[in-house]
Amino acid sequence: MQDRVRGICERFDRDLRDARDAASLAAVRVRYLGRKEGLVTALLRDLRELSPAERAAAGKSVNELKTHVETGLEGAAALALPGTSGPGLPPLDLSLPGRVQRPGVPHPLNRVRALVEEIFLEMGFALESGPEIETDYYNFEALNIPPNHPARDSQDTFYVEGGLLLRTHTSPVQVRAMERRQPPLKVVAIGKVFRRDPFDATHSPMFHQIEGLVVGEGITFAHLKGTLEQFCRRVFDGGVRLRLRPSYFPFVEPGAEYDVSCIFCQGRGCGRCKGSGWIEMGGTGMVHPAVFEHVGYDPERYTGFAFGLGIERIAMLRYGIDDIRLFFDNDLRFLTQCPE
Ligand code: PHE
Repeated sequence: MQDRVRGICERFDRDLRDARDAASLAAVRVRYLGRKEGLVTALLRDLRELSPAERAAAGKSVNELKTHVETGLEGAAALALPGTSGPGLPPLDLSLPGRVQRPGVPHPLNRVRALVEEIFLEMGFALESGPEIETDYYNFEALNIPPNHPARDSQDTFYVEGGLLLRTHTSPVQVRAMERRQPPLKVVAIGKVFRRDPFDATHSPMFHQIEGLVVGEGITFAHLKGTLEQFCRRVFDGGVRLRLRPSYFPFVEPGAEYDVSCIFCQGRGCGRCKGSGWIEMGGTGMVHPAVFEHVGYDPERYTGFAFGLGIERIAMLRYGIDDIRLFFDNDLRFLTQCPE
């Protein structure tokens, strides 16, 4: 019996190897597993004639053979999938290019966000966040922008039912953070902001900002400048210079806009910086005493500084992107290009 099993096994292996197409595979199946004539079927039938002791040993090897035949046939059938080699198909062409599974990549804005978070966390800042749908109080009033103040004109937004609005900047998180914490504090908040702006190469009705806030005793404009300088050097890898220009934001006094020396021409003047040698980064200033009063901090005791900047702007500079809309088009040809 064992010899018969071994003989059938060897023949099966040979037959399977020689089967070149689906029809001959089917014939092999019938030859070994066919219900009437199948060689393995016959073996199983013959087991019945053996004594119980013999049957136990022989049964084991016949069953093993049956499993061997079944898996062999299944494997050959699987190989016969379109485009692979196997019975009935031309041999596998190893020179054909493979089917590439493209791994996903983080969105460029998320990469910049992660980098910015890392830099501020290293500098000892804590992460804060606030809602994208805000009240008029947090977005404007607590930031010293009362109703009808002209500063509201440049930050028109989308209004939601119930007196709520889509926040126009991340500055309301300053107020929320100060309500939650007591000085000294050092926080950054990153998130989406909205404005009633056109959607063109340099504007988007939705974009991302980073807000920074430091409050304590004895905080000065020098701390502000040092912090921004350190941040800009980290984010643009190297020797960029920082420039502050007087500017007006109702929630800071004095207020400024800050620029970095153009990272494309090192400040000599080029098309990207419109010949000026400087690229505008964002707004900053010393927290206005009126803001401290809204959150119940003593403006005689505490001072602080705040700054804002746009994530899209940093990403556009870092990756040399000239149209903000590309971030939101979801075009893989764009999304997979940004280096690093
Ligand atoms: N929130 C201001 C804006 O979006 C930027 C800013 C933040 C200015 C903090 C000063 C201090 O324009």
